[in-house]
Amino acid sequence: MLDGRTTLSKFLIDTLDRRPGPDAASGLSALLIDVAASIKTIAAALTRGALGGQHGSAQSVNTHGEEQKKLDLVTNEIFLQHCEWDGLLAGMVSEEMDEVYAIPETYPRGDYLLAFDPLDGSSNIDINGVVGSIFSVLRRDGEGDARGAADAAAFMRPGREQVASGYAIYGPSTMLVLSVGNGTHGFTLERDVGNFVLTHSDIRIPEDSCEFAINASNERFWEPPVRRYVQECKDGRTGCRAQDFNMRWIASMVAEVHRILMRGGVFMYPRDFRTPAMEGRLRLLYEASPMSFLVEQAGGLSITGRERLLDVQPGALHQRVPVILGSRHEVERIQRYHGEYDRGEDKPFTSPLFNERSLFLPETEA
Ligand code: F6P
Repeated sequence: MLDGRTTLSKFLIDTLDRRPGPDAASGLSALLIDVAASIKTIAAALTRGALGGQHGSAQSVNTHGEEQKKLDLVTNEIFLQHCEWDGLLAGMVSEEMDEVYAIPETYPRGDYLLAFDPLDGSSNIDINGVVGSIFSVLRRDGEGDARGAADAAAFMRPGREQVASGYAIYGPSTMLVLSVGNGTHGFTLERDVGNFVLTHSDIRIPEDSCEFAINASNERFWEPPVRRYVQECKDGRTGCRAQDFNMRWIASMVAEVHRILMRGGVFMYPRDFRTPAMEGRLRLLYEASPMSFLVEQAGGLSITGRERLLDVQPGALHQRVPVILGSRHEVERIQRYHGEYDRGEDKPFTSPLFNERSLFLPETEA
């Protein structure tokens, strides 16, 4: 007996398997149960903390040149082991692997592609702070050898084509937040029983908010429209917004997006002039796209600054992208600021600090 509660399995069977549609009886719910099993295993490993003997550096770097922690590798392996055997996947991509992980020949292959970040915000591990996992599921398109191993090209699909996405947040409680395209729903892990129980049905992001999250130490690298928005927030009730704003930064995208889903706000990791290609920091396939899917399904918006993030066509497995997401009206405002800047219409904002001959000129152009 479930005492009237909805477990993850019941939710998925009711939502996917008992309704007509391409994912009915196709195994998507079984795949998501395997993803949830990975998350439960990771939650158990994280709970042991330093006693688990898995803290510290792995003495290796990932494809982005970032130092890998032991737990980055352990959690990556947990995802692989829980999801490779079930016959539902054609390939997996993760932040911790340079190439597509081909399903071993000993296992059957299926129709889905899984992209994941096994441990988001892993710098928080050392401080016992919040971390997460993020995942994205695509259905493989019909071209090519339907049962062959998926290559990188198979993953080059815009985020709007995701059939499911979600994240786990490992905080005081572990939660799984997911969407299969019918809203965004949150499940809390009942640790002693091992069930994810639906606790946050059909999450809606408030359209208005006065809370924003950005790594302000990068301000000198931002484009003028982002500097304009943040400056106006900081001006508070004495400025043109005529209200005070609050700023937050947890250094874990999962934790920031979770806060926004719970009470609204804006999260920005904008286009950044530090890197030669002037991209953002976050990875498209396994960070930005899945989170944007969840945010849109909860009534929010997600953009790169100039376009809808879910419309971005990936060109590489580990491509980075600027991300601005959250409460609809705030994100619309930031998109408008980008448009006004591009058309040269934001002159009232232009001050000695923000015009084209600014002290804050992007370093790559200085
Ligand atoms: O790599 C992803 C990530 O850890 C995000 O989860 C987080 O939002 C961001 O990087 C933190 O970046 P920074 O190091 O600039 O605080």
